[in-house]
Amino acid sequence: MTTKKVLVAYGTKHGATAGIAEQIGKALREDGLDAVVLPAGRVDDVCGYDAVVLGGALYAGHWSGKAARCAERNAESLRHRPVWLFSSGPLDRSAEERDIPPVPAVARRMRLIGAREHKTFGGSVTARTPGLLARSMLRQGKGGDFRAPERIQSWAHHISAELSAA
Ligand SMILES: Cc1cc2nc3c(=O)[nH]c(=O)nc-3n(C[C@H](O)[C@H](O)[C@H](O)COP(=O)(O)O)c2cc1C
Repeated sequence: MTTKKVLVAYGTKHGATAGIAEQIGKALREDGLDAVVLPAGRVDDVCGYDAVVLGGALYAGHWSGKAARCAERNAESLRHRPVWLFSSGPLDRSAEERDIPPVPAVARRMRLIGAREHKTFGGSVTARTPGLLARSMLRQGKGGDFRAPERIQSWAHHISAELSAA
């Protein structure tokens, strides 16, 4: 059997979503898959991949424009391979406590490309996050890193299991 090639693409502003994508890529490689992690803006063609995981940061209720445009540009090819989507956002433990559904535009996109599943992971805003809004959130005590590595890894292993069962 040939090794399956999986693209993990991400739309990020300040790097937290890129970190999640890297963790997913690492877990997939541990499971023997050939995982490539790329910024969504650099993905022009997904035809060389057996499966795609695409994630985007949430800002003001919207999924990353880069992730959204990547899904749009590649919609036809995505429809023909297994796809998983994720969002990175909540700055609290809510994503660990319950399943947070995708924002409406992502839910629509999921239906269009026939994505198998969507997962919301906690986000991260720390003293290293640039921007006035991030700084003001931190001043109000709303920051922190809520990405929960064990949840990210466990989702990635679940994707590997689905791909090897296919
Ligand atoms: C100005 C601002 C607006 C945000 N809006 C949302 C939001 O609407 N929903 C949400 O879940 N998270 C929101 N967040 C949290 C981010 O989604 C979170 O920090 C995410 O991990 C950022 O990813 P990135 O570093 O890859 O850009 C916001 C963060 C900032 C700084």
